[in-house]
Amino acid sequence: MQLLDGKAIAAQMKQEIAQEVKQLIAQGGRAPHLAAILVGNDGGSETYVASKVKTCHEVGFESSLFRYDNSITEQAILDKVAALNNDPAVDGFIVQLPLPKHISEQKVIEAIDYRKDVDGFHPINVGRMAIGLPCFVSATPAGIVELLKRYNIETQGKHCVVLGRSNIVGKPMAMLMAQKAYPGDCTVTVCHSRSKNLKEMCLSADIIIAALGVPEFLTADMVKQGAVIVDVGTTRVPSTTTKSGFKLTGDVKFDEVAPKCSYISPVPGGVGPMTIISLMRNTLLAGQKAIYKD
Ligand code: GUN
Repeated sequence: MQLLDGKAIAAQMKQEIAQEVKQLIAQGGRAPHLAAILVGNDGGSETYVASKVKTCHEVGFESSLFRYDNSITEQAILDKVAALNNDPAVDGFIVQLPLPKHISEQKVIEAIDYRKDVDGFHPINVGRMAIGLPCFVSATPAGIVELLKRYNIETQGKHCVVLGRSNIVGKPMAMLMAQKAYPGDCTVTVCHSRSKNLKEMCLSADIIIAALGVPEFLTADMVKQGAVIVDVGTTRVPSTTTKSGFKLTGDVKFDEVAPKCSYISPVPGGVGPMTIISLMRNTLLAGQKAIYKD
């Protein structure tokens, strides 16, 4: 069994991106600028956004964080999105999800200029990805594809089971694994909470991407010998053994599944760091106008 070490690959990519930023500046350009909108005090969102801001600084990007109270109106968020759309100093921005119930996430996502949508959530980016056109690919699936690529994982003709059908991970992941490319060319099955023969599906999988958000859902009896397992789960489970009082727990029962795998990503240190670095990569592409010219 070999670990898919997202932490190590992300560190390598951080160096590569920092190098490209230096080049951009040496050629008379400016550092890419990522802005983030954070509403409320959700613990997970706070951690993710803090990590994104920190990584921006490490690769040499500009960053701005706009924080709002839970009571902010939908209109005020839409106004801020419009302002960022029109700010030439901002190359890309994200609105951290989830948003409070009184704000329509879909409305906010659709208000973002797709050319600055470095999260890849806008329907134009999702649609372009679906038909294989250049676009911003959302960070978690993009990070997983990069991880498989850097470990030279064979994907052509393999059966890939994606557990979960969220707009952020499951759906785009399934599309990417089925695309005519490397990594890709898989036969893809998408399973979800209503799937009936989930265990049989998993047992026939060469690659399983677990993105259900159910801690330790995938157990050894569901995994074929030699399978590749990617764990996208990041549930904060209360813990007495950590300083923060919680422990990030994946969707895979790691200790019993790992011995059966050819490759497996750990939690933490697997998909998480790859997600953040993929957002940085998208921001670099936005700064370089590499995908959308104007
Ligand atoms: N919430 C959970 N994951 C993400 C993400 O990748 N981007 C944003 N904006 N919000 C999230």
